[in-house]
Amino acid sequence: MSIKKKTDELLKINRQILKCSVCLKSAKGLLVPGEGSRSAEIVLVGEAPGKNEAVTGKPFIGRAGKLLDSLLETIKLDRNDIFITSAVKYLPKTYITPKPADIEHGRIHLFAQLEAIQPRVIVLMGNTAAMAVLHEKFSIAKDHGKFIIRDGLIYFLSYHPAAPLYSPKLREIIIKDFKKLKRYIK
Ligand code: URA
Repeated sequence: MSIKKKTDELLKINRQILKCSVCLKSAKGLLVPGEGSRSAEIVLVGEAPGKNEAVTGKPFIGRAGKLLDSLLETIKLDRNDIFITSAVKYLPKTYITPKPADIEHGRIHLFAQLEAIQPRVIVLMGNTAAMAVLHEKFSIAKDHGKFIIRDGLIYFLSYHPAAPLYSPKLREIIIKDFKKLKRYIK
């Protein structure tokens, strides 16, 4: 697909997400479709927006986002060169962790985005993203750092960048995984 076609397609998907009645009905605050480069080789997929994201409409700008930024800086990856999104495009109204119905619905939007971008690698950050995309239960504690090929697409499993907020020793582990990802892309 040409860059112009990709841009048009992504803008169209963005508009569709922003006016999606299922998302709007379920959301507390703004919808967060995701952002980044339309020709990204890497798409990062998180779980669902948090409070800060729901106020601004931008992905990963809260505490997890700060950790993600420092991680990207460590491996010299620019936010503008990748695409960042989440499995679910809204912060649910009455709970924080998305439920299976939120995830199932989110797949429609996420797969449309992946189809338009056609990245080389899709990074699934955390158990929810892995489950949402691959429809399989993974244990990120065991499976992080692994590449998985499904239907011709290449996925990389990693911890969610918020993980070191709860367990600081995971920071070094995530950095190691992301360095592996960077080597693959080079
Ligand atoms: N966590 C996510 O998974 N996505 C965001 O946008 C923010 C926090």
